[in-house]
Amino acid sequence: MRYLLPWRSVALLFEKPSLRTRVSFEIAVTQLGGHCLYLSPQEVGLGVREPVPDVARVLGRYVDCVVARVFEHASLETLAKWSGVSVINALSDWEHPCQALADVLTIRENRGATAGVHLAYVGDGNNVARSLCIAASTVGMHFAIATPSGYGLDEGTVEMARRLSDSSGAQLLVTEDPAEAVAGADVVYTDTWTSMGQEEEAEFRRKAFGPYQVNDALLGLAKPGAVFMHCLPAHHGEEVTTDVLNGPSSVVFDQAENRLHVQKAILAQILIPAD
Ligand code: CP
Ligand code: NVA
Repeated sequence: MRYLLPWRSVALLFEKPSLRTRVSFEIAVTQLGGHCLYLSPQEVGLGVREPVPDVARVLGRYVDCVVARVFEHASLETLAKWSGVSVINALSDWEHPCQALADVLTIRENRGATAGVHLAYVGDGNNVARSLCIAASTVGMHFAIATPSGYGLDEGTVEMARRLSDSSGAQLLVTEDPAEAVAGADVVYTDTWTSMGQEEEAEFRRKAFGPYQVNDALLGLAKPGAVFMHCLPAHHGEEVTTDVLNGPSSVVFDQAENRLHVQKAILAQILIPAD
């Protein structure tokens, strides 16, 4: 057996909880022949026990790659600046790119292509939505996003997505009307209304997002045979009903599985030296 990453060491530095990201990265590194170690929020105290540049410079002396889940996106940039090794975003307050790549793979498996697929995202214009919007626009997927007023994507992301869509031949729709976004969609996607770190806003958000729940009625506006996607963890009865999540349209566990496959590709791409 020839491993792609023999003796490579990867640190998983997590400031927030995780099931999928932590387990899939750990298994990915193991299957590629490398070694992975998990550093919990309590152990490192990023920026609390020790300044981020110091943590970065120490880790860079031991490991070949840092996979980091952080509250502030700036912490990732500081890790990348000071560690001297590759840093992979395992979710920040701004983006969740590994999830978006797994989602693109899931859509391609399911629809046979990505270009021309209509993807509707309903809910919070958060990290998952931002990465998905950029990924979809890049590969030529038509992306429609419906968020309540005040919870939409930032202008910079929308502008970037418009540029990417123009070159990939995709269309972009930004609306506050879930029905408009979902009408005729091939894929309907949602995420939690309250992301990690926003727990104090949960009650307020539940009220603001009520009309944005993905249920049978909303999914019924999509194309016949449309699929439902969610990065998980899901809050049954909030952003999605249990019927939809567990129903025949749901591909949420394919998405979770695909985290493993795309992350192996990312690690191989980053850590195998070019000839
Ligand atoms: N989707 C996702 O990133 O899940 P975890 O928070 O469990 O890693
Ligand atoms: N938007 C969610 C995604 C969890 C995988 C969060 O940031 O908590």
